[in-house]
Amino acid sequence: MAESMKGLHRSHRCTEVSNKNIGEEITVMGWVQKRRNLGSLIFIDLRDRSGLLQIVFDENDVQKEGFEKAETLRSEFVIAVKGLVTKRGGAVNENLATGDIEVRATELRILSEALTPPFPIEDGITTKDDLRLRYRYLDLRRPTLQKNLIMRSKTATLVRTFLDQEGFLEIETPMLTKSTPEGARDYLVPSRVHPGNFYALPQSPQLFKQLLMCSGYDRYFQIVKCFRDEDLRADRQPEFTQIDMELSFVDVDDVIDVNERLLAKMFKEILDVDVKLPIQRMTWQEAMDRFGSDKPDTRFGMELKNVTEVVKGCGFGVFTGAIENGGSVRGINAEGQGAMPRKKIDALVEVAKTYGAKGLAYLAINDDGTYKSSFSKFMTEEELAALVSAMDGKPGDLLLFAADKNSVVWAVLGALRLHIAEELGLLDKNQFNFLWITEFPLLEWSEEQNRFVAMHHPFTMPMDEDLQYLDSDPGRVRAKAYDIVLNGTEIGGGSVRIYQSDVQEKMFEVLGFTKEEAYERFGFLLNAFKYGVPPHAGLAYGLDRLIMLMAKEDSIREVIAFPKIKDASCLMTDAPNVVDSKQLEELAISISKAEEKASEDNGN
Ligand code: AMO
Ligand code: AMP
Repeated sequence: MAESMKGLHRSHRCTEVSNKNIGEEITVMGWVQKRRNLGSLIFIDLRDRSGLLQIVFDENDVQKEGFEKAETLRSEFVIAVKGLVTKRGGAVNENLATGDIEVRATELRILSEALTPPFPIEDGITTKDDLRLRYRYLDLRRPTLQKNLIMRSKTATLVRTFLDQEGFLEIETPMLTKSTPEGARDYLVPSRVHPGNFYALPQSPQLFKQLLMCSGYDRYFQIVKCFRDEDLRADRQPEFTQIDMELSFVDVDDVIDVNERLLAKMFKEILDVDVKLPIQRMTWQEAMDRFGSDKPDTRFGMELKNVTEVVKGCGFGVFTGAIENGGSVRGINAEGQGAMPRKKIDALVEVAKTYGAKGLAYLAINDDGTYKSSFSKFMTEEELAALVSAMDGKPGDLLLFAADKNSVVWAVLGALRLHIAEELGLLDKNQFNFLWITEFPLLEWSEEQNRFVAMHHPFTMPMDEDLQYLDSDPGRVRAKAYDIVLNGTEIGGGSVRIYQSDVQEKMFEVLGFTKEEAYERFGFLLNAFKYGVPPHAGLAYGLDRLIMLMAKEDSIREVIAFPKIKDASCLMTDAPNVVDSKQLEELAISISKAEEKASEDNGN
């Protein structure tokens, strides 16, 4: 039966009590972690979000009825305890903040009883993710998740304080809005008042923050939910949080400067990690050439080498064929991995294939200098020696090569590099390598749509020196865009925006929009620009990703209170779900027969 806490006031959280409080009477409230009976003594580990505190019920201290009540306590009961702080009678527990004290109880109230939880409320459990998420409210009681969410809250507060001091204003933008072009599918919300019409949930506040610049707010930020209907991965959720900002009268360096100071403060205050400023900058081209990725993990080497020139005239058709088709041949050197068994190399080939490779050529250098290779028979000794030398190959090394068009070669070797580093345990989570990637291509050719699409978004400014090619050779135009990368994860990105109507209209033209289409979708922005617009630029961080890396977790699910699973559903609430036919009627929506069947098959 639940007792009232009337007359009792919590005086401390569990770990707020220390040996400084010895001799004081305190009141603590929380969850029973564990109970141990030792004859005339009962020990309880009491848990709250701060940690654990040992409570002792001594037959001689508490009235009989209180002692008997303590005997009924079970894990996860919620209790209130009044008692005296004393030096710990038994051995000191060095692992606990409160390990040298205990509370000798004088009063106990059971505020709530509890069923046996489906998994133990402690760290390091091997419970399946599905069960954890179904009972997320219990999972969230575990110390690691509490630590992560506390870190998230502290970080958000720090961001607000810092940006406020830098003259930024926090301004909210609508959730029910029109589609914003960040490249993913929209989540749509049907309108009851306008049957057949839909709002889109924002993929980002991009257009609104640009409008706020037009309105003179000059430095805006928002910690804001964004919605993108895209395939989920470890670092992607359908709804996620951005730290979004926009600044007027600035160029690339101004945005980078304020953000470097923000990151340095954040890592110092939250993690006591010194971020060396300025953060290294690398152009997109260099990142692709050296790491095969626009978000390179620079915690380890194994850089790509372009050996196209070296193998140009060799006898291996796979290499020469790719070069003749306008592609390249590049390799990585997995140093010291020359003895890798054939089975493991075959597994690497399979990994390469998942990234679009037709194959993966390898050459292992034996300790005696001879080779074990999938292609050495096609090459002369001299050609092989030149290739090995170009790759800085030494006895005991394993060289891996991809031959294809550049985009495939980069994707394959970039991914293999990470795969091998992970297998070799080269990814140290205590090391934080920041990197700015700059000078992104403005556009990217979409085979699927047979047109150029914006690499960042259509409001990104071309680099001054490349603006002249926007008409004649759009593919070579670089953008004033930048991403901030941490340990191989893109934690943020932004750009300087186009603020001239004529350049913006030209951009839409290159993207294949007619003027009418452009105005239909973005007319409110294009028109706003006609009434006086300052040059402006901005950036948005993925807050979840940032906290994931700070908390040294592998998935953003571990830093989001109520995340969704891979199919974008919530196991705890069973969302998404069917709705009343009356609700659908009001919204003038009818469900097709096929969908009704699919829904029934899903058990809804
Ligand atoms: P962008 O699309 O690069 O830029 O998004 C900014 C950052 O948001 C994070 N992010 C995500 N995090 C979790 N789940 C997702 N599905 C997801 N998608 C993106 C990433 C990314 O770097 N409006 C522009 C910013 C600007 O130009 O100012 C924008 O949204 O960490
Ligand atoms: P094949 O002649 O097709 O048997 O290929 C010989 C070797 O080259 C095998 O090890 C293949 O995996 C490898 N290979 C095939 N296509 C490519 C490619 N595009 N890039 C690199 N290696 C390849």
